[in-house]
Amino acid sequence: LDLNVNQYLRERIRTVPDWPTPGVQFRDITPLLQEPKTFRVLIDAFVHRYMDRDLRPDVIAGLDARGFIIGAVLAFELGVGFVPIRKKGKLPFTTVAETYELEYGSATVELHTDAVQPGDRVLLVDDLIATGGTMMAGRRLLERLGAHVSEGAAIVDLPELGGSQRLRESGLPLFTLVDFS
Ligand code: PRP
Ligand code: ADE
Repeated sequence: LDLNVNQYLRERIRTVPDWPTPGVQFRDITPLLQEPKTFRVLIDAFVHRYMDRDLRPDVIAGLDARGFIIGAVLAFELGVGFVPIRKKGKLPFTTVAETYELEYGSATVELHTDAVQPGDRVLLVDDLIATGGTMMAGRRLLERLGAHVSEGAAIVDLPELGGSQRLRESGLPLFTLVDFS
């Protein structure tokens, strides 16, 4: 059944060649959200895992911007809070910030200092893991505030970019639904 869910979702992810730059195969998850039945299958795959008493988080943190969509709906379904990790300059209250390297240049993400409490068990959610830099930076923000990131969850993993392997080697368990080589 899980295999069928993976296949069902894989067939509905759109691949856009050469976007945003030549050579990139962009894995576009918007079709999964557009069709109500598919959106339900997608969210249920995560709900099924995280409603388990041993895996249920205290808080879900979503990564800007597509991680907000999955993360917020999942948090709502599980009955836990949602906190956004945003790109620099968007959050109004006091923040912690982490800068990380991209293929070209760097990016900074921020989190409100009162978003999590020390000891909170946090599930970190995004749509896709490529180099893993975004998820690693999000994890560092949460850990600086004393939270424990129990797992990272994403719809898509691009294993050839090495991000998921690096994240796992750093001690972060990951749960992803679809791999693209
Ligand atoms: C994409 C994706 C992840 C990140 C993954 O976001 O949604 O957040 O890249 O890449 P990484 O594993 O190499 O860090 P993008 O930067 O395109 O931002 P967006 O969600 O605001 O479109
Ligand atoms: N983020 C980084 N690489 C990506 C890709 N190939 N498709 C979608 N989002 C991405």
